[in-house]
Amino acid sequence: MSIPDDEVAQVRAATDIVALVSEHAALRRQGQRWVGLCPFHNEKTASFSVNAQEGFYYCFGCHASGDAITFLREVEHLDFADAVRMLAERAGVVLHETSEGSAEHKRTVELYEAMAKAAQWYHERLLSAPDAGRARDYLRSRGYDGDVVRRFSLGWAPEGWDALCQAIGLSERVLSDAGLGFVNRAGRAQDAFRGRVLFPICDPRGRPVAIGGRILPGGPGESGDSGAAGRPEPKYKNSQETAIYVKRRTLYALNWAKHDIVATGEVIVCEGYTDVIGCFQAGMPRAVATCGTALAEEHFRLLRNFGRRIVLAYDADQAGQTGITRVYEWERRHNVDVRVAALPDGADPGDLARTDPDALRAAVAGAAPLLAFRVDRTLRAGDLSTAEGRARAAESAIAAVAEHPDDLVRDQYVMRVADVARVEPERLRARLAQVRAAGRDGEARPERRAGSPGRRQGSRPGLEALRLAVHRPDLVADRLEEVLFLDPLQRRTFLALASSDSLHEAVSAAEPEVADLLRRLAVEEPLLPEDPHTDPADPVLVLLVREAARRALADLQAEGRLGHTALAELTEETVTVRRNLEDLEDQERRRAAADRLVAWLVTGRAGGSPAERARTQMTEPRS
Ligand code: UTP
Ligand code: MN
Repeated sequence: MSIPDDEVAQVRAATDIVALVSEHAALRRQGQRWVGLCPFHNEKTASFSVNAQEGFYYCFGCHASGDAITFLREVEHLDFADAVRMLAERAGVVLHETSEGSAEHKRTVELYEAMAKAAQWYHERLLSAPDAGRARDYLRSRGYDGDVVRRFSLGWAPEGWDALCQAIGLSERVLSDAGLGFVNRAGRAQDAFRGRVLFPICDPRGRPVAIGGRILPGGPGESGDSGAAGRPEPKYKNSQETAIYVKRRTLYALNWAKHDIVATGEVIVCEGYTDVIGCFQAGMPRAVATCGTALAEEHFRLLRNFGRRIVLAYDADQAGQTGITRVYEWERRHNVDVRVAALPDGADPGDLARTDPDALRAAVAGAAPLLAFRVDRTLRAGDLSTAEGRARAAESAIAAVAEHPDDLVRDQYVMRVADVARVEPERLRARLAQVRAAGRDGEARPERRAGSPGRRQGSRPGLEALRLAVHRPDLVADRLEEVLFLDPLQRRTFLALASSDSLHEAVSAAEPEVADLLRRLAVEEPLLPEDPHTDPADPVLVLLVREAARRALADLQAEGRLGHTALAELTEETVTVRRNLEDLEDQERRRAAADRLVAWLVTGRAGGSPAERARTQMTEPRS
């Protein structure tokens, strides 16, 4: 590793994990910890817990666990060093990396540099190269002036086979890793983009990571003609995913739109690059587009950091369609408000910005909640002039309403449908209940990571005792022993704690399964009795000792049955252990009984015949 350990520790200590997690999941305070919906799996009830003091998180649903660094790695898909670098930047910690960083880091830096160089070169070609005249004419015909071209760093890829490769002097490996070129069958480097107007796609910080390229109209493809290779050229060609470009986490133009999104709290999500530019031209510089993929949860996760009102400005037919139920879930999980701009049929924001910018602005301003949009559209599509038509329209509208997870929201729409379709609300509610019941049968159970270590519960008293050891070591310091933990994982966890000075030290030294359990315990609250007269650790210790002693007694009896121990001795020891177990139930005697049983268990481990153990350890008379 290239970052010194003490600096990693410094970064960890300087990071406010609650603030970090809050950028991805809403947390609320609950006692000592913070809880919220888990950002790593689908859920409706909050299973995700954060212990701010110790800097750990744990999810009781999917068992994801870790510290600030693991959290950032998981949500941003970073490697360890990059996650530490990002957190260091946030916290203002200066790192003194021993080398330039990992080889992988070096390679990504190369890709960023290659993309920046290429985007700049393409941009200059569009602005001034003689062969870009047709491209400039086309853009002008779409209403794109020099300001638009510069603002969006539009580019032109010349027609030649290897103009870029020749011009920017990068290795074939870097060119192809960045998706800018490839080695052809003749073994020569060739440009990936040729004869296209280019839209550079940047990360939120503004670094170009990919390119979308549009053919010129009248060329191959747009008119349905075949390209040079005999295949029709697609209208748009987009970069493949690379080490620095992941589509489902990228939004075109977010780097330019983010300031206005933050200022207004609203983001407009379009389908195409030209739709985004249209919104900018119509005075709404807060539009982004997915890059040739459907809107994914990661897009929401990214957007919610900037603005909470998300207006989908899609083609009217598409707006109500894809992944609806997921969108409702994401709305709740990420606490965003998803709306749909009702665009005139067949128009996209790019066209509308030119033909009727007022209509575009009005559609965005008047965007309706997704469910309202769907219900209204369904009702409007129906024939409301006849009773049969109204019943059918109501039926389809109710099917849409049924998909919403919130019963209060559903009921509001029931009233709306009842109104428009002139049906009794009660009948619609009954219908809605039927549809929901039918839907639930087929509903997938929430996913669980099979075989994950957190799934096994182990012994309850063991977990309680470990929880105390994590949160209140003062209460159990001298009273816990290895032998009390029957579950092997719990035993190893106890040993990890017992041999470290702090929870952090224990976690960093422990094997992964133990570290997971420790982090989970760190976000759980220990059970402490209200009664001021009992020692707070007693109830847990009694349970733990009883469990361990019963097990040991059963073992002892099995031993006797197998003939290893003389019957008389066995009986004597059994009787004493039994008596101490009984004393455990007695408020007055339980502390002493627990101590004796622990001593018995400990010596048993150390060796000696059970009879000897019984005599030396358990002969204290009952008082
Ligand atoms: P559209 O076909 O709606 O194009 O594709 P558009 O945005 O209206 O573009 P203009 O106005 O005709 O220039 C929308 C988006 O779908 C992806 C692109 O990301 C595009 O911006 N797409 C489209 C492709 O990836 N490949 C294609 O061949 C077409
Ligand atoms: Mn268009």
